[in-house]
Amino acid sequence: MKTRCRFLILLLLTLVTFGLSFEAKGQARVTKERFGDTLDGKGVDIYTLTNSHGVEARIINYGGIVTSLKVPDRNGKLDDVVLGFDNLDDYLKGRTYLGAIIGRYGNRIAKGRFTLNGVEYKLAVNNGENHLHGGLKGFDKVVWQARVLKVPNGAAMELTYLSKDGEEGYPGNLSVKVIYTLTNANELKVDYSATTDKDTVINLTQHSYFNLAGQGNGDILNHRLFINAARFTPTDAGSIPTGELRRVRGTPFDFTRPTAIGARINQDYDQLKLGKGYDHNFVLNGRMGTLRQAARVYEPTTGRVMEVWTTEPGMQLYTGNFLDGTLIGKDGKIYQQRYGFCLETQHYPDSPNKPNFPTTVLRKGARYHTTTTYKFSTAKSEPPAVAGG
Ligand code: GLA
Repeated sequence: MKTRCRFLILLLLTLVTFGLSFEAKGQARVTKERFGDTLDGKGVDIYTLTNSHGVEARIINYGGIVTSLKVPDRNGKLDDVVLGFDNLDDYLKGRTYLGAIIGRYGNRIAKGRFTLNGVEYKLAVNNGENHLHGGLKGFDKVVWQARVLKVPNGAAMELTYLSKDGEEGYPGNLSVKVIYTLTNANELKVDYSATTDKDTVINLTQHSYFNLAGQGNGDILNHRLFINAARFTPTDAGSIPTGELRRVRGTPFDFTRPTAIGARINQDYDQLKLGKGYDHNFVLNGRMGTLRQAARVYEPTTGRVMEVWTTEPGMQLYTGNFLDGTLIGKDGKIYQQRYGFCLETQHYPDSPNKPNFPTTVLRKGARYHTTTTYKFSTAKSEPPAVAGG
């Protein structure tokens, strides 16, 4: 009798545990907690998106920041592959755009000026004499409205923000929406859309710093990178594109065959000296507006692979050149130079002043819509080279 009773209890316990872990693993879900308050008293929440494989993205509605992203290595071990901070106060210090949504304009606009419909607009200048990443208070430093979305293929949330006419010098009330979806295919998908009531310019991007060996675990120089681009946009000393679309062939900017990020980063090449490493826009192959592969990164020690797919015409490769060991990130990790890389899908920098670049003008009544997907997988050894478009 006693034995049977014990057996039944054991069976019950097993079923409950199994049931719970099945629930925990099997169902994509979103949970929400308070993360902190801004200096002007606005509440900021942290949303945890978990997909059916237990892959997890944490996102706050301050700056639309991805604070952590846990993906498996080739042995199934989850690790956090983005740089970030443990608490809101560190994000409020507003340094280096870790993980944030960038707007209205990703990267630089020369001298913070552009002319549209015959009117010259003067933007906030926050990077030498230039305008960078939306100005003094870009979309990375505002509190967004957030809500959880129900989707069939994963976990999702929506962020919205109304950027008022004149904010940071830009014309038009711009109504912006960003949807993050963590799909059950281990993709973090970012959908950006916007409308305006006056002609304006727009160029939204995502500024996550990745380290596929795990955040804080050394530099990213051994990550092997493929970029689907035959050209890049060289810059002047202020990181403003000169207007040239230079062929990558024969330069340290040729990533059309997978190459370690660090293999040529210190070469004596003018463009690498200017940016203290890579801090440049690549002209992506293939037709803009169609979702196509922009990049693939393979980290040999963990086997993690990240592919970037986008509808955008360009992508900024930034190799964490300005990280200098003064930032203390999650779990007390110190972020030294080149501890993370960014692949910021975008239109080219300074497009409002470059008639030969694809336009960033958004007309009144028109709808802006772009998509970028970061897809995670693993491999035993480096996957074969991908054909360029
Ligand atoms: C972008 C810019 C860089 C730098 C980083 C953040 O990638 O091009 O120059 O501002 O963001 O520090």
